[in-house]
Amino acid sequence: MLRLRTNTSVRRNRAFSKLNHLELAIFDWQHKYPRDPWLARMLSHLVREYWRAGQSSSDGGSVALALMRESYSDSPWTAATEIKCQSARPMPGAPNYRGIMTAMTTKSSILEPAIAEYIADATVREHPTLRELREETARLSQWRMAIGPEQGQLMALLAHTIGARRYLEIGVFTGYSSLAMALALPPDGYILACDVDEATSAVARRYWEYAGVAGKIDLRIAPAIQTLEGLRREKVEPFDMAFIDADKVNVDTYYEDALALVRVGGLILVDNVLWDGAVLDESVDDAATQALRAISFKAGRDNRVEVALVPVCDGLLIARKKG
Ligand SMILES: C[S@@+](CC[C@H](N)C(=O)[O-])C[C@H]1O[C@@H](n2cnc3c(N)ncnc32)[C@H](O)[C@@H]1O
Repeated sequence: MLRLRTNTSVRRNRAFSKLNHLELAIFDWQHKYPRDPWLARMLSHLVREYWRAGQSSSDGGSVALALMRESYSDSPWTAATEIKCQSARPMPGAPNYRGIMTAMTTKSSILEPAIAEYIADATVREHPTLRELREETARLSQWRMAIGPEQGQLMALLAHTIGARRYLEIGVFTGYSSLAMALALPPDGYILACDVDEATSAVARRYWEYAGVAGKIDLRIAPAIQTLEGLRREKVEPFDMAFIDADKVNVDTYYEDALALVRVGGLILVDNVLWDGAVLDESVDDAATQALRAISFKAGRDNRVEVALVPVCDGLLIARKKG
């Protein structure tokens, strides 16, 4: 059952309670944001479904009003804070509404959506190019693989805190985390990025160019195990920070490689350690879930590092290499 909640000022307005106003609002949205037709289609579908479900016209009107208000503002993303939407019913060919709406401002699968949105509304400052990349990535079926903006911001903050210049990334996808880090690193910063997928890496490359940071990034297209072995063999200058976000079954190998390649006082970050909460469910015992459970418990007891597991997005393990 579809549930829509709008803020009280929107709810109070009864003027936009007719279907033609909904149509007008949607048309206006599409006209204003032609670059985001997929999102507009999703909202259009959402409103129509809601209307068909026989909900009260004042609620339908409040959605239209929220859309119209949004049409005249600068940021489409604030719509997520105006229209709180939850649904158990997936839209054909797209992730469910709740996932989409939540993805607009946050990517937490762990926090209560309202809390995640509050955090995002209050604190997330997203570079315009990162936002564009997120919008483009949202149209891909694997959109959930990218980190959320709040995690990108945390990683940038950590990089600034330790004065990071050299960053190692294992798992690039369309480039959100690498772009967030490239923007955070100083002009002489260096990123060594590992991935196996040429197609998604091409998207990443396009955004690195667009943001003017491509010169900082050395992308290696090969299985990460192979690339990391090579780096260890070559005894490259140590990295300040490493981010592990590739195939989960190899997370322990990546952790050991990262520990060898990061300087004392450097950070090793492991993504998805809460795995949508699956790590808590004893009946889930596939290789990826087992590997993610094991890495948290291993790092938690590992005397070589200080560790914290932060429930941002899908869970981020932060390990600081001790001397
Ligand atoms: C979760 S996504 C990375 C998301 C990225 N950090 C971001 O924020 O957008 C995982 C990526 O790891 C890559 N990958 C999977 N197996 C790999 C392997 N053996 N070696 C290198 N990359 C791999 C996939 O191609 C995919 O792009």
